[in-house]
Amino acid sequence: VPSRQPHPAPALDRLRVPTHVAIIMDGNGRWAAAQGLPRVAGHRAGRDAVRRTIEACRDLGVPILTLYAFSTENWRRPPDEVGALMDLLHEAILAEADDLHRNGVQLRISGDLGSMAPEIRRELDRVIALTRGNQAMILNMALNYGGRAEIVRAVREIAAEVAAGRLRVEHIDERAVARRLYTGDLPDPDLLIRTANEQRLSNFLLWQLAYTEFCFLDVYWPDFGREHLVAAIAEFQHRQRRFGGAPGG
Ligand code: FPP
Repeated sequence: VPSRQPHPAPALDRLRVPTHVAIIMDGNGRWAAAQGLPRVAGHRAGRDAVRRTIEACRDLGVPILTLYAFSTENWRRPPDEVGALMDLLHEAILAEADDLHRNGVQLRISGDLGSMAPEIRRELDRVIALTRGNQAMILNMALNYGGRAEIVRAVREIAAEVAAGRLRVEHIDERAVARRLYTGDLPDPDLLIRTANEQRLSNFLLWQLAYTEFCFLDVYWPDFGREHLVAAIAEFQHRQRRFGGAPGG
């Protein structure tokens, strides 16, 4: 699969912008290494790219953006790096909450917040409550997220409800599972972007990406900007989505 280089300002069909864009933000470490900086400098620059991307989605009219910010596997990184990522996250929430709110962004979290530091959890809960009624855009942050763990959690919930006599086995269908995922009532992503030229899912949204279009970009996350998002959406608009059906059918 050839990697996509961004074209200069491709023409976007403003009426067919994807409803839900999901992004695996990869390449912070390599970006930093390429300029002889510590990895954490890459994550810091990655934070600016997050901000740019939220703004670009809002401007382009993308209603839902899901960002893979921290996976359940990321705890295996050196403690210094994990600590720096958590500090950065904490700082970012504190610094950006009001701006998100002013811009009508609703914050949601997909992931297991139970094992995050209490002060981060408190702050996240506060911003989720603050922005609950916002309608301009949904920012769904995948934090301490793992796709398989998410499915296991849903299965357990369903099993408990069956055991308690509140749910009948015949009523377990795809909707019953989907509703119990972190993404709950959100529609599945239309477009998945992964940066830094890696072509794998890394345990991200395993259930939800069943019919999603994938776009792999050869750009490190800290260098990701509006032009890359536009290029990915332009590519998405050239794909023919069939959802398992026949062409044109
Ligand atoms: C991948 O780069 C990125 C991450 C592990 C986490 C994403 C974090 C940020 C964008 C920082 C700011 C976050 C927020 C939410 C404000 P990598 O370290 O895997 O890069 P590499 O593959 O080149 O080593």
